[in-house]
Amino acid sequence: MDQNQKKICAAEEAVKYVKENAVLGVGTGSTVNYFIDRLEPIKDKIKGAVSSSVASTKRLEAMGIKVFDLNDVDSFDIYVDGADEINPEMDMIKGGGAALTREKIVAAVARKFICIVDDTKVVDVLGKFPLPVEVIPMAREYVARELTALGGRPVYREGCVTDNGNHILDVHDLKITEPKKLEQTINAIAGVVTVGIFGRRGADVLIVGTDNGAKVTE
Ligand code: A5P
Repeated sequence: MDQNQKKICAAEEAVKYVKENAVLGVGTGSTVNYFIDRLEPIKDKIKGAVSSSVASTKRLEAMGIKVFDLNDVDSFDIYVDGADEINPEMDMIKGGGAALTREKIVAAVARKFICIVDDTKVVDVLGKFPLPVEVIPMAREYVARELTALGGRPVYREGCVTDNGNHILDVHDLKITEPKKLEQTINAIAGVVTVGIFGRRGADVLIVGTDNGAKVTE
């Protein structure tokens, strides 16, 4: 199986978690796009979705799935999203697609986070994938200096403006042995909107697409 087939395999397994009449939390990225596409046969049985990006909203609406404003929804059962890396504790790096802030918000409201990945995303220690940090544009260079002081090598993602009108710094050369601690530390820097470590709100269910099918860890 190639990487895309593994993503599809994980996405198809996640569809099994969708209950009738549910409002679904929907993430962003290529793996989630496969998940959205596979909602087609059951789309009339769900109430709708809460989306984490303009891109996912467009895809959901194109299929005729109603997208709710998060403020109009109390809570919902599941949030389905991909990740750039996930460790055995189910801490993740996210934000490769620049949607990290809205992803973190929608994930916070969901009762269960279902992470869908291909097996290249599963790691022992987070950090090989450059850590995305969304920053207020005027704070970009200040935040970059603070991230350098923490031992990272921040690189400005040129040309990228997030759905919230902000910039992204991708931090290279970090070995993230204490994800929850680093999440707090980076979030506390003035000008940081969100760091792409999902530790405080990690995954509850991990579905990995492998050569031998979907491997589920709960
Ligand atoms: C979007 O900002 C990210 O958090 C994605 O969830 C992550 O990058 C995984 O994307 P793919 O499914 O495209 O690999």
